[in-house]
Amino acid sequence: MARLIVLFLLSLVTITMAISSSFHASQKRGLIYIPNSDFPEDDEIWVKKGSDLTWYYNYKMYPSSRYENDTALQFVPMLWGAPSSFKDTTFLENVTSQIVQGQNITHVMAFNEPDNTGETGGSNITPDDAAVYWAKQIEPLRKLGVAVGAPAVTGGYSGAAWLANFTTACNGNCTFDFIPIHWYGSFDGLSSHLGDVSAVYPGIDLWVTEFALNDATLNETEQFFQTAVSYMDQHENVTFYSYFGSFRSFTSNVGINVAMLNSYGKLTDIGSWYIGGNSTGVKPDNVTVTPSHATATATSTATYTIPPLATNLLSAAHLSSRPSLALSLGLLALQFQVMA
Ligand SMILES: *[C@@H]1O[C@H](CO)[C@@H](O)[C@H](O)[C@H]1NC(C)=O
Ligand SMILES: *[C@@H]1O[C@H](CO)[C@@H](O)[C@H](O)[C@H]1NC(C)=O
Ligand SMILES: *[C@@H]1O[C@H](CO)[C@@H](O)[C@H](O)[C@H]1NC(C)=O
Ligand SMILES: *[C@@H]1O[C@H](CO)[C@@H](O)[C@H](O)[C@H]1NC(C)=O
Ligand SMILES: *[C@@H]1O[C@H](CO)[C@@H](O)[C@H](O)[C@H]1NC(C)=O
Ligand SMILES: *[C@@H]1O[C@H](CO)[C@@H](O)[C@H](O)[C@H]1NC(C)=O
Ligand SMILES: *[C@@H]1O[C@H](CO)[C@@H](O)[C@H](O)[C@H]1NC(C)=O
Ligand SMILES: *[C@@H]1O[C@H](CO)[C@@H](O)[C@H](O)[C@H]1NC(C)=O
Ligand SMILES: *[C@@H]1O[C@H](CO)[C@@H](O)[C@H](O)[C@H]1NC(C)=O
Repeated sequence: MARLIVLFLLSLVTITMAISSSFHASQKRGLIYIPNSDFPEDDEIWVKKGSDLTWYYNYKMYPSSRYENDTALQFVPMLWGAPSSFKDTTFLENVTSQIVQGQNITHVMAFNEPDNTGETGGSNITPDDAAVYWAKQIEPLRKLGVAVGAPAVTGGYSGAAWLANFTTACNGNCTFDFIPIHWYGSFDGLSSHLGDVSAVYPGIDLWVTEFALNDATLNETEQFFQTAVSYMDQHENVTFYSYFGSFRSFTSNVGINVAMLNSYGKLTDIGSWYIGGNSTGVKPDNVTVTPSHATATATSTATYTIPPLATNLLSAAHLSSRPSLALSLGLLALQFQVMA
């Protein structure tokens, strides 16, 4: 009962915490770089003087050209989805050559939302196949001293189940150094999810590589941002995080208010806070802005699906299916113990 009261008070605190116009900087912050040939000028925003961002990923194995020589943002390569075959070693070779050429690559990630379908941005890989790809291309990088992230499953119960099945399929042969986490939804859901994952993998670093409160009012979204980011900055096991996202509000597929840029490419409050500045007072809006330069159309198609937004799945997961999630994570804990 006492615990219930504490939880109730905590949720009141969460709800009433005021939005602050100044916000602290942090070395944990990274950029989710969305290929952006329509508005290349936006690429400059994240590396401008004073930005506190330290790293980025772009769902690809090689750097985005604007940042390839930029030492301010460390690149984290990702094997996004299934390679062309079980024999394919392109990712391993490409990343190894980058290291040999002197690129500062210390971490890699593998498989973006493998438990999610292609239509909603997932890479839709079976745990059995992923275990084979992992042994071929990820484990050798780990042997070279690169820290590797676990498959970046969704925050829903299918993510936990997928990771449990992956662990089984690996049969003790897949080791990871950190766990990428995706979360779309409330702060309470995020903190509880982090607690669940932390309990299963004691001592492993957590990277929250996609998160936002989607499709909410601006006040709710800003409140979520400040609460979640402050929490993760203080959380001893969250080493890095990257907010979704770094796009113009009118292009958002999770509601305009999450965006770090308005339709014209100006930093919103959240965008400014994220890179270490104060409120700008710029509001996200939904104005279709046409690129001003001539070469945009041919190259503007992204080569991968923009990250997912398994909103229905997630609301189902944290509103009604928490027991299933806990169950799946419990199963995962059991397997992890057996493995260790
Ligand atoms: C990065 O450096 C390489 C080698 O000096 C050069 O060829 C390339 O054009 C540079 N890229 C950018 C975006 O400046
Ligand atoms: C990695 O792959 C990209 C895309 O195919 C290519 O442009 C780049 O040269 C490759 N880098 C290395 C070091 O092999
Ligand atoms: C590589 O990046 C890490 C993390 O940002 C940094 O600590 C390290 O000094 C960098 N190494 C080099 C050689 O730039
Ligand atoms: C995990 O494995 C179980 C048992 O084989 C299966 O029923 C379930 O569909 C799998 N789930 C995922 C997400 O792979
Ligand atoms: C795991 O690794 C061991 C030793 O390298 C190997 O004998 C075994 O076949 C591997 N198992 C799987 C499922 O890949
Ligand atoms: C961080 O991880 C350690 C080791 O697993 C654990 O004891 C501690 O409670 C975790 N901290 C938080 C805030 O969850
Ligand atoms: C948003 O929050 C501010 C204070 O943080 C408050 O003054 C304002 O009325 C709120 N707006 C709405 C629409 O709730
Ligand atoms: C912007 O408005 C259009 C037209 O009402 C709508 O289809 C689109 O979903 C809106 N975009 C966002 C990001 O909300
Ligand atoms: C943000 O505002 C605070 C308080 O007004 C001020 O001390 C700080 O220098 C400002 N930070 C930036 C980056 O402008």
